[in-house]
Amino acid sequence: MKRSKRFEVLDQRPVNKDGFINEWPEMGFVAMKSPYDPKPSVRVENGRIVELDGKQREDFDFLDTFIADYAINIERTEESMKIPAVDIARMIVDIHVSRKEVLDVISGITPARMTEVINELNVVELMMGMQKIRARRVPGNQAHVTNLKDDPVQIAADAAEGALRGFAEEETTMGVARYAPLDAMGLLIGSQVGRPGVLTQCSSEEATELELGIRGLTTYAETLSVYGTEKVFIDGDDTPYSKAFLNSCYASRGLKVRFTSGSGSEVLMGSSEKKSMLYLECRCLYVTKGCGSQGIQNGSVSCIGITGSVPAGIREVLGENLVAALLGLECASSNDQSFSNSDMRRTARTMLEFLPGTDFIFSGYAAEPNYDNMFAGSNFDAEDFDDYNVFQRDMQVDGGLRPVKEADVIAVRNKAAKAVQSVFRQLGLAEVSDEQVEAITYAHGSKDTLPRDVVADLMSAEDVMKRGITGIDVVKALAESGFTDVAESVLAMLKQRVIGDYMQTAAILDRNFHVMSGVNTPNDYMGPGTGYRVEGERWEEIKRIPHRINPMDI
Ligand code: 5AD
Ligand code: CA
Repeated sequence: MKRSKRFEVLDQRPVNKDGFINEWPEMGFVAMKSPYDPKPSVRVENGRIVELDGKQREDFDFLDTFIADYAINIERTEESMKIPAVDIARMIVDIHVSRKEVLDVISGITPARMTEVINELNVVELMMGMQKIRARRVPGNQAHVTNLKDDPVQIAADAAEGALRGFAEEETTMGVARYAPLDAMGLLIGSQVGRPGVLTQCSSEEATELELGIRGLTTYAETLSVYGTEKVFIDGDDTPYSKAFLNSCYASRGLKVRFTSGSGSEVLMGSSEKKSMLYLECRCLYVTKGCGSQGIQNGSVSCIGITGSVPAGIREVLGENLVAALLGLECASSNDQSFSNSDMRRTARTMLEFLPGTDFIFSGYAAEPNYDNMFAGSNFDAEDFDDYNVFQRDMQVDGGLRPVKEADVIAVRNKAAKAVQSVFRQLGLAEVSDEQVEAITYAHGSKDTLPRDVVADLMSAEDVMKRGITGIDVVKALAESGFTDVAESVLAMLKQRVIGDYMQTAAILDRNFHVMSGVNTPNDYMGPGTGYRVEGERWEEIKRIPHRINPMDI
C-alpha cells in the first residue's frame, strides 16, 4: 500500500511506541468489568458471613475467608447490599452526602458490589469522589530518592532537596541490596536537613526492611505487597494472615505502615482467574483493610504497563485509588512507574489524581533524573519539577510541591552531604571525601559525582548491621559533630514512634513534628465553599515560580 505521509508522521509519534492490547478476559486483560466477575451477594448466619459474592463458605479461598471475617462490617452488610450500585455511586458524588455517611454504607458492601459501584462512575465523577473521600484534608506527595551508584551521600543531598521542594515522604531502594543500611541512613539524615518531619523508608527484602525500621533507621514502611488471587499470594510465599502479622510487627514498634497492591500484578504473574483487574484489586484492598493497615500504595504501581495497555485502564487506576479511599484507607496513588513514551499521555494520566488531590498524589515522584531511578523509572522526575510547579500555578491546585531558590537547594544539599560525611566519620564507617561532598552538592545526577569505594561501603553496611547501630547512634553522631539541629530532628522522628499519633490514617508531620492525619485534620469537602482551598500563604508560595516577570520591575 502507498503510505500516507500523514500516517507516516503519526506512526512515529511517541504514543505509538507504547504497548496497547485488546481486551482478553480469559487471560485477565480487562480493566473494569469481566464477563467472569462474580455477581454480588452476601448471606449472614449466626453473625458470620456464609456466602460472599456467589460463593458458599465451604468454597471460599483464603482471600474470601479473610475478607468475610475481617474486612466487611457484618452488622451492616445485609442492609448495605440492598442498595443498588448506582445509588451508592450517586451518594459518592452528591455534595449533600458526607464522606462519613458514604463510608458507613460502603463498610457493608462486598468486593463484587464495589466493582459495580466504580463501574457506574466516569472519570470526572471518580475525581469528584476522590476530592470528597480522600482521608486527609490537604493532599501530599511522596518522592523516590535513589541513584545508580547507591551512593548514600547523593541520597542524602537529593533527599534534602526533595524535602525542601515539599515531599512529605521519601523512599529509597538499591541496585545492590547490601547497601540498604547506608542508604537508609543517608535518606534519614538528608530528609531532616531539607525539612524537619519528612518520613522516610527503605524498600528492601522484608526481614531487612523490618530490622531497619525497628532500629529507627527508617520511619515508615510501604511495600507490604498483597495480591488478588490465592495462587499469586502463595507464589510470593505469603497469605493475608502472614501480611497481617508483618503489619503488627511494625505497629508494635510504633512505625507507620502502608500496604502495596495494584491492578495488573495477577495478570503479570499468570493467575487472574479471568477476573477484571478492578475486581481483583478490590479484593486486595479488602485484605489490606482486614489486616488493619492504615493505608495502601495502589494504582497499578509497578504493573502500570499492563493496566495502561487495555481500554479504560487509566480510568481503572483512578477507580482503584477511589476504592482505597472508600474503604477509609490512606491512598498513595501511584503515578510512580513510567508507562508511556508520550509526555502528553503521562501528564494526562497524572491529572486524574493531581486535580482532585489524594493523600499522596505520587507514591514515588523521582527526585533524581530518570537514569538514577532504581525503581525502574518514574512517570515524573527531577527534570519535570518546573513543569509541575507551573501546573500548580496554572490551575491553583496543591500538588504538594513548591518552587525553590537555587541558592537554598545548594545550601541544603551541601549541609546534608556534610552531615553524612560527619556521621560516617563518627561511627567509623566508609570515608566520604570533601571532593565527593562538593561534586554531590552541585550534581544533577550520579553522572556528575565521583566514584565510591564499593568494597569499603559494603563492609561498612555490614558493620552497621553487625554492631547494632540504631537511630540513636545517628543522633549522637550528629550532635557530636556539631549538627545539633539535624540531631534534634532525627531524635524527634524517633520520639514519634513512642507517641504513635503518626500511625493514624494518612498521617504526615509538619516541620514542628505536628501530625496532620485523617483523624485530626480530616477531609471536610462537601462542595463549593467547603474543604481545602489553595489560598493565603500557600497560594503565594505556589505563585512564586522562578521564571516569571514582575511588571513592577519593568
Ligand atoms: N502489587 C503488589 N505490590 C506491588 N509493588 C509494586 N507494584 C505492586 C503491585 N501492583 C511493590 C512490590 C515492589 C515494590 C516497589 O512495590 O513489593 O517490590
Ligand atoms: Ca512508593
